[in-house]
Order: sequence, then structure tokens, then C-alpha cells
Amino acid sequence: MNPRLDTLHPYPFEKLRALLAEAGPQPEGLRPINLSIGEPKHAAPACVEQAIREAMPGLSVYPSTKGDPALRRAIAAWLARRYSIPAPDAETQVLPALGSREALFAFAQTVIDPSADSVVVCPNPFYQIYEGAALLAGARPYYVNANPLRDFGCDWHQVPEDIWRKTRLVFVCSPGNPAGNVMSLDDWKMLFALSDRHGFVIASDECYSEIYLDEDNPPLGGLQAARRLGRDDYRNLVAFSSLSKRSNVPGLRSGFVAGDAALLARFLLYRTYHGSAMSPLVAAASVAAWNDEAHVKENRRMYREKFDAVLPILQRVLDVPRPQASFYLWAATPGSDTAFARGLYGRAGITVLPGSFLARPAHGMNPGEGRIRIALVAPLAECVQAAERIAHFVNTSSV
Ligand SMILES: Cc1ncc(COP(=O)(O)O)c(C=O)c1O
Repeated sequence: MNPRLDTLHPYPFEKLRALLAEAGPQPEGLRPINLSIGEPKHAAPACVEQAIREAMPGLSVYPSTKGDPALRRAIAAWLARRYSIPAPDAETQVLPALGSREALFAFAQTVIDPSADSVVVCPNPFYQIYEGAALLAGARPYYVNANPLRDFGCDWHQVPEDIWRKTRLVFVCSPGNPAGNVMSLDDWKMLFALSDRHGFVIASDECYSEIYLDEDNPPLGGLQAARRLGRDDYRNLVAFSSLSKRSNVPGLRSGFVAGDAALLARFLLYRTYHGSAMSPLVAAASVAAWNDEAHVKENRRMYREKFDAVLPILQRVLDVPRPQASFYLWAATPGSDTAFARGLYGRAGITVLPGSFLARPAHGMNPGEGRIRIALVAPLAECVQAAERIAHFVNTSSV
């Protein structure tokens, strides 16, 4: 067996199941509300469903790994509209992916030389695929703790020189999971300068880019930042995006990678063997989704409505900032995050994710400790009810 499998950590939801088993049954008479997993629950757009129905003849075709040219063109055009950049070359700078998760994982296998002493830098807390991808590629993860004084952004300049020298890949997540923080142009400028100095590749996870709270202020993207800074070839930069959150279709498994053509050529080679060609049905549905913005705007309106309703209730009892983007709240808990989540489940029937399960102890602390992640994915009325139960729990419990 591959011994690197033994280096993988249990997934946060496995830890959550074990924690909640300790809490015993949920209280009787209270409908359970699950706000732990970031699985969109708003309806999938009708245009996606219709495109799948119309693409049924595609079932008799083996798709190519490089993907349907119409889809690559639709993605390039979307990137141009969304980020006010010239459309990336659909032939060389865009590849479809089966959601961003598999692409983030596979990209690390492409970039890392397993025979070298390689480091992969990732934010902390983080999406656990970054770490698993690094470990299975034979690299050592290095965690950069989120700084609460900087909206939970990472202080890249705190990474020591000897780590940078071995760094081959840096994962960034903007908007961030769990805190919804967005990297500024200055953050990007610093990271690009470090990449130029040390030669590492940047994997920019942007799967929450379309879920933002200020309709007039969409989050800056990695490719957009590169262009603004005159890096027109996107050297050493690849952005990962997805329809899962944007269009409420996590079951479609559709996303893309875009950026540095030289990296994507090698990634395409890897993917040919990896076997990650997109079904023609999914490709047709994805073209329809990327070409439609009305459902995305409505999606944001529904999330905004939930933040507006829930935050005033929670802010009376918890320190919980309004995020710039994503559908998460990253709330401070009075005392231990695990005890809070366990108590909330057992006494109020609400499931949330302890922050410490999303992070690793690093630099003398676990930066997720003392926080919980609340995913506002349930319908509005349920989110409001959950907020009221959380407030009651805080007011009446000794946790
Ligand atoms: C930060 C982050 N990146 C990537 C993903 C993967 O999403 P998908 O594979 O559906 O695009 C998720 C899913 O929750 C996520 O939270």
C-alpha cells in the first residue's frame, strides 16, 4: 500500500460525527438544523436542467480530457466579463475540471517533484484537500495561520526564508473558507513577488468568488490581480473555480482551471492519465450556467437576506463579523469550540463545525480554536430559527 495514505488526517466531518456521538441524541421536539456543511441548498437553475435533457445523445460519446471547445470558450468569456480582463486563450489557458476539489488535488500531483524535499504552503484554517494533496504528492505542508487582526488573511511575509526556498506550491483561498476574507491587490503583489523570487506556483482557490455580500464590490480574482499588475502571461498562477456554489449544483461536478498556459499543458498531460474528462451532459449544462448571470444574482440576494436576518440575532450574544464573501459565519465561541458545538447539538438541535477541526496546530496554537463555522445554507426561516436557538443556548448555558 502507499505509505503516504497513513499521513492523511481524518476529514473534519469524521471528527464532527465522533464529537456529536458523545453528545447523545438531539433534543426531542426540536427539528434538527444542520449548518455544518457548505452544501448549497438553493434550487439549481432551470437552464442547467434543460441543457442536460437536451444533451442526452452525448451519452454515446467518449469526452476528451481537454474538454468541449464550446465550454472552454464559455469559461474564457465569463472570465473576461467577470474580471474585466481580456478573454484568456480558450485553447491554452482554460481547462474544464470535475469541480474544483479534484482539480486542486490533481494539480499538486502535477506540480510537486516527489523526489525533492518540497514544501506546500497553505492557509490555516484551510480546505483539507490542500493538505491531503500535498501529503500524497510527497510534500510537506507548511501552515500559515490566519490573522484575526487582518480579517483572517495570511501574513505571507512571516514564512521563513528556508521554507520559501523549498516551497513549490502555495494554496490561497479567496474568498476564504471559513472566514470569507478576500485578498487585496497588495496581498497579491506580495505573493507574486515571493513567487518570482522563489519560483513557486500559486494555486488560487476561488470557488466562493460569486457569493459576496456587496453587489457593487465583487471579490478580486487572482487572474484579475495578475493583469492589474502587468503579469499578462499569468506566470506561475492557476485559478480554480466552480459552479457548485455559484449555481447551486454541487452534484454536477463542474469547474475549471485557468491561467499559466505552460502549467496547464503539463496539467492536461497529468489529467489524461488521471481520467478526468467531463461528460458531454455536464459540459452542456455548464455552458448554460456560465452564460447566465441572473440566477447567480438571485442566489446572492438570498444569501444576503440570510446574513441580514441572522447577524443581528447572533451579534447580540457572539463575536461574529459580517464576512465580505462566502456563505459562512466564523463566530467566536465563549470557551472551547468543540464543547460549544457538542452542547449546541445536544441542547438546541443545531449542527455547526468546530473551527479547530478546520485547522492544524501550528506556531504554538490552533488558529481555528475558539471559533465555529456556521454555513447559512438552510432556507431563510430555518437559518433564523437556528440563530434564535443559538442565542438562547448562549444565554442559558454555562459553556
Ligand atoms: C475552499 C473550497 N475549495 C474547494 C471546494 C470544492 O468544491 P467543488 O469541488 O464542489 O468545486 C470547496 C467545497 O466546499 C471549498 O470549500
